[in-house]
Amino acid sequence: QGITIIGVPMDLGADRRGVDMGPSAIRYASVQEKLTLLGFDVKDLGNLQVPTPESYDVGETHLKYLREITSVNEELAETLDKVVLEGCFPLVLGGDHSIAIGTIAGVAKRRKRMGLVWFDAHGDLNTAETSPTGNIHGMPLAVSLGIGHPDLVNLAGFTPKVQPENIVVIGARSLDEGERHLIREKGIRVFTMHDIDRLGMGRVIEESIDIVSKDTDSVHLSLDLDGMDPKDAPGVGTPVPGGISYRESHLAMEMLSDAGVLTSAEFVEVNPILDRKNCTAQAAVALIGSVFGEKIL
Ligand code: ARG
Ligand code: MN
Ligand code: MN
Ligand code: MN
Repeated sequence: QGITIIGVPMDLGADRRGVDMGPSAIRYASVQEKLTLLGFDVKDLGNLQVPTPESYDVGETHLKYLREITSVNEELAETLDKVVLEGCFPLVLGGDHSIAIGTIAGVAKRRKRMGLVWFDAHGDLNTAETSPTGNIHGMPLAVSLGIGHPDLVNLAGFTPKVQPENIVVIGARSLDEGERHLIREKGIRVFTMHDIDRLGMGRVIEESIDIVSKDTDSVHLSLDLDGMDPKDAPGVGTPVPGGISYRESHLAMEMLSDAGVLTSAEFVEVNPILDRKNCTAQAAVALIGSVFGEKIL
């Protein structure tokens, strides 16, 4: 099978600089080599062009860089639609999590119904009204559900991109009040760290696979590296202690891979200037290996 890599050096959705170097760090950690060794036909389209924050006005402070983020995501969605049409597996490298708006729009466009695995310390379910920061990387899951600014919600000409009953959030441990409200209102299945501790990652993923594959024709994995524990993935802009361990995250990827349900994936929020010897990008590449069937034995 073919895998098409696309980098999105986006940092307009986050407060911290450096996450725009995420795609380079992940490539430097040999993502293409790993996938080629696993037997895939890998094509790297390079990076999309992303405006530099210094040369643009932040715009509205409760939706920072809305215009620029919208236009990059439009281009990302169009690019991914072509990748899907070619029959390749899209693998998107971020960049901050605001790029999930375009990724999900692009991969959901030709599908009747898509499942979504959201691996994250956060819910990313804010809107301009509920966000404590105005950073759009805290909003992409809400946007994909059709909640948020119309320019973002209507990206690629359709909304919603995904139904609440086909979403799982895994690893949550930092939720804002408005996000808690939305989770209850929509009935989104959120596996918090508490749930992972009590049930074990194995059961969490078994349940997750049922949810994301029920009546769906595709499943997207949106993996924010801050879902992992900061001890294992320190190179992220919004670290939260008490996260998913290195082994648990691998088990999750291995089980998703064995289930054979994934049709696209993105790895976001890697920030090399906050990292320790590129270990967060290396963790991302190790997880990507597991997603694509790498086994210990
Ligand atoms: N909830 C916080 C906010 O809305 C943090 C979001 C962090 N999101 C992320 N993709 N790292 O600003
Ligand atoms: Mn930049
Ligand atoms: Mn996060
Ligand atoms: Mn996130």
